[in-house]
Amino acid sequence: MSADFKKEHINSRFSLMHAGISDDHSFADEVINGLRSEPKKISPKYFYDDNGSDLFEKICATPEYYVTRTEAAILKEHSREIAVANPGKNLVVELGSGSSIKTRYILSAFIRNTSQVTYVPIDVSQILVQSGNALLKEFEGLIVNGIIGEYEQALEIVAEVYKQPKIILFLGSSIGNFDLTYAEEFLKKISACMNKGDSLLIGFDLVKDESVLNAAYNDKQGVTAEFNMNLLRRINNEFEIMLNLNNFEHHAFFNPEKSRVEMHLVSKCDQSFSLNGSGEIKFKKNETIHTENSYKFTEKMISDLASAAGLNLQNSWKDNNNYFNLCLMGK
Ligand code: AVJ
Repeated sequence: MSADFKKEHINSRFSLMHAGISDDHSFADEVINGLRSEPKKISPKYFYDDNGSDLFEKICATPEYYVTRTEAAILKEHSREIAVANPGKNLVVELGSGSSIKTRYILSAFIRNTSQVTYVPIDVSQILVQSGNALLKEFEGLIVNGIIGEYEQALEIVAEVYKQPKIILFLGSSIGNFDLTYAEEFLKKISACMNKGDSLLIGFDLVKDESVLNAAYNDKQGVTAEFNMNLLRRINNEFEIMLNLNNFEHHAFFNPEKSRVEMHLVSKCDQSFSLNGSGEIKFKKNETIHTENSYKFTEKMISDLASAAGLNLQNSWKDNNNYFNLCLMGK
């Protein structure tokens, strides 16, 4: 089956493919469905418009949000070892590459090993264009073939187009946004596009002291609250309505039974509004829109996921606080 895509050449070392990206239309549909369901919900993938992506970068710089800097430190320390454990590989695929800041450690270690590396960043956002150009300036031996699109379609393209041995990166505990059933299904999809000898480098945020988790999603500067509220801004723009942002507030907490941090937008009063003729959406005071789950893993959960997906956990690295686990899985 041939995936549907267009290829665009930016320069001799940089090309981009567009893989059936979901458009604004699907945002509108999902918002309407999500706000009509009980309980109300909106998928966290809609956080990342341009403003949301900027806000996420700012979250990573807050003192409370340890996730990004902890993983970056692990990568910095162990990239060499990871490259050495993957000799001869010159294809690095990354799911959700964003600004590619952490990826630099991996790319430079692999380039040191094989001198020429093809990097295939996959992201829904146009951020690929800037981050790809920046990487090409930094790394002489690099070729960038980005894919703008959703993960699943992009993975199909990867399996179809690239036959050489590869390492796939899925960093930042992004897998934590999926419910556990889908996380398993998604790992199976990644596994299905891996050949024997390919590897997956995947980051998992670990279960830890509740106060650390609650602080990380309730930073004092209020950046995470802004990030959450940005969804309401998107809804206002999309539907040309004026939802009063002051009537909602950010709420994030660790749910130990479910092993996840949940983010919600809480309605501070009874209120209702209409979405472009799609009917009236009513909120009771204290009713919430569930906007994100961020699962926190135990090592048992990680090894169960790996074996369910037919992958073997070859190596893993943690920081001194045991906050984060970077895992190398093989097929
Ligand atoms: C990018 C999904 C890993 O869940 O920690 C940060 C997103 N949400 N603060 C996470 C996020 C609130 C982040 N992930």
